[in-house]
Amino acid sequence: MRRGHPRSVILGTGSELPANVVTNAALEKLVDTSDEWITTRTGIKERRILEEGKGNADMAYRAAVRALKDAGLEAKELEAILVGTVTPDYPFPSCACVLEDMLGARKAFSFDVNAACSGFLNALTVADSFIRTGMIRNALVVGSDALSRLLNWKDRATCILFGDGAGAVVIGASHDGAHGILSARLRTDGSYVKTLYVPAGGSLKPATLESVRKNEHTITMNGKEVFKVAVRSMEEISREALDEAGVGIDEVSLVIPHQANLRIITARAHPPRGYRPAQRLRGRVCLGRRRHPLLGR
Ligand SMILES: CC(C)(COP(=O)(O)OP(=O)(O)OC[C@H]1O[C@@H](n2cnc3c(N)ncnc32)[C@H](O)[C@@H]1OP(=O)(O)O)[C@@H](O)C(=O)NCCC(=O)NCCS
Repeated sequence: MRRGHPRSVILGTGSELPANVVTNAALEKLVDTSDEWITTRTGIKERRILEEGKGNADMAYRAAVRALKDAGLEAKELEAILVGTVTPDYPFPSCACVLEDMLGARKAFSFDVNAACSGFLNALTVADSFIRTGMIRNALVVGSDALSRLLNWKDRATCILFGDGAGAVVIGASHDGAHGILSARLRTDGSYVKTLYVPAGGSLKPATLESVRKNEHTITMNGKEVFKVAVRSMEEISREALDEAGVGIDEVSLVIPHQANLRIITARAHPPRGYRPAQRLRGRVCLGRRRHPLLGR
């Protein structure tokens, strides 16, 4: 039965992790840290690093191919490609454009969404909006970052936290009224720009020998501040999204937070049924065996 605007359903998912594993023990050889410190403060045991000579689009491509296969869709059928990333292969064209060419998705329009940690969610929400308005019937949405390319391997506060990987979904329009994304809430606070940023390499301070020498083109973070904001914001925005959807927290079967730090996830969580921290959900996004309202099949 067709009623109202179409809603977006997830038709397929895919992911990619580079083969190169960097353990906490390996980092102990680079900086003054320990497996014990990293594990207790962050929950992280290892991270993946993209091999030299490869770009972010290579990871995005592998995740995308898997998602398309899962969806039973061919790249040439895609109408839009959105990539949430802050580490495109080039300043321009976009990572999405490079991916479009790699996939041979000739019919699709493509662009990146630069929103760092929440890049995938922002990209998904934009694609969902296009689908709701009827502008497109399907989209490939990828969250892909090679953050290792922005790391100062001498900064123990940041090099322990970040890594590389990609996740992709193919979404399509559903008219049955029973399935689809129920709500999405996006929020930013520009006053925190310098709490987590890369000082150089943009138009304000283009890369120079001096900026490279000072490591200004790498991630600079006020960890304590990020911690506080992340804990507060994740809870607030989650409640808003639930309210908008008219769904109670008790009705949620699974929470998949995007967050580098297990301590942030658990700081506010009173885990509902099925709650599993993201680190344990690496790889294919699993929504369980039960028919799920997001899945179109
Ligand atoms: C980064 C983070 C783990 C640091 O934990 P913290 O408890 O805030 O630690 P602090 O920065 O206060 O540092 C405590 C001490 O540990 C030291 N330290 C920092 N990094 C260290 C490391 N990798 N190994 C060992 N010691 C470390 C500090 O130098 C400090 O030493 P001092 O007391 O002698 O000055 C924490 O702030 C955090 O998780 N922030 C959020 C970051 C995040 O998630 N960013 C990604 C956003 S998506």
